Amino acid sequence: MNSSFIQINEISKHFGSVRAVDNVSFQIHEGEFFSLLGPSGCGKTTLLRLLAGFEYPTTGNLLLDGIDITSLPPDKRPTNMVFQNYAIFPHINVEKNIQFGLRKLGLSKEQIEKRVKDVLSLVKLEGYEERFSSQLSGGQRQRVALARALVRQPKVLLLDEPLGALDKKLRDEMQLELRSLQKEIGITFVFVTHDQQEAISMSDRVAVMSEGKIQQLSAPNELYKNPQNIFVSDFIGETNFLKASTKTQDGEYINVSIENLGEFKIKNNLNISENSFDAVCSIRPEAMKIDTVKSDWDICLEGKIRQTSYLGEMTKFYVETKELEKIITVSSQHFDNQSFKNNDCFISISLEDISLLDKK
Ligand SMILES: Nc1ncnc2c1ncn2[C@@H]1O[C@H](COP(=O)(O)OP(=O)(O)O)[C@@H](O)[C@H]1O
Ligand SMILES: [Mg+2]
Repeated sequence: MNSSFIQINEISKHFGSVRAVDNVSFQIHEGEFFSLLGPSGCGKTTLLRLLAGFEYPTTGNLLLDGIDITSLPPDKRPTNMVFQNYAIFPHINVEKNIQFGLRKLGLSKEQIEKRVKDVLSLVKLEGYEERFSSQLSGGQRQRVALARALVRQPKVLLLDEPLGALDKKLRDEMQLELRSLQKEIGITFVFVTHDQQEAISMSDRVAVMSEGKIQQLSAPNELYKNPQNIFVSDFIGETNFLKASTKTQDGEYINVSIENLGEFKIKNNLNISENSFDAVCSIRPEAMKIDTVKSDWDICLEGKIRQTSYLGEMTKFYVETKELEKIITVSSQHFDNQSFKNNDCFISISLEDISLLDKK
């Protein structure tokens, strides 16, 4: 496997004064399912269009499989793109739509027929050759768009929020299908989404973007367990932030003073060596324990439940404590709002569930 299959070197794209992509460098491995994740307007589509050749960078260069593609037009690149609004032609049938992807490749009639047949089987649309767009469901239309991109046998498939227009259930199904399809054919996928759950469940690695920059590039579980800054921690799942200030370093650990709670030894995942570094601690709602009785965990706070919301498999509690300035969110699979007398509760925290974040 080539771990620097796609090389993005100091790429920027400016539109007037807007820095849509702002000096970004990273590499994409051959055969991986790679996602660009971030809120609307952060530069995901622009970065994908730069890879496709629909835009050219203001600065930097792009290499694909060792070849500099920075100034190659789209049809000279071994890439193909799938769009959100499944752009398939309404006036021609499924088979012709897919054949359209093969034009200008100079293939024989037999080769074209074989490729179309193979790709229809891949996206599970055998028997749909004669149908028109209006005779297909949203999911089927998106499969035709996928087939049309795959039939050219690109080295890289670029997908811009391809499931965005589908309803929740179909979307969940297509996520699984797309993932297994990618594993089956082994092509590199660069997938754009603003949906963190989607990126986390499908990808080998995820680049979280904000304001044209990469905030963190990690495997999905690392993003969740080890977010590097406040933006990532907030964007990936839900969390509680507590004010913190670093004290003396102690090997892999650092002593941290957390607002009104005292001083604790926390894993120094940011490698901070400064004393009085202004940081933030993040604790996930499901990492804390809410109970009717005190515990012997590292931290145990007395609290009053101010609000609850029932979410089926769990209940979320909004708890006020004496020590902390803000309401904290705790989730539990064991207790519901009937469990607590006078809304009195205890919140327990284990130090290993506290992550230290850069305040920037
Ligand atoms: N052709 C363009 N002209 C001017 N500004 C653009 C153009 N394309 C994108 N932008 C701006 O660049 C930023 C990033 O846009 P985009 O890449 O589409 O974000 P995303 O796909 O993450 O929502 C936005 O501020 C957007 O308005
Ligand atoms: Mg976009």
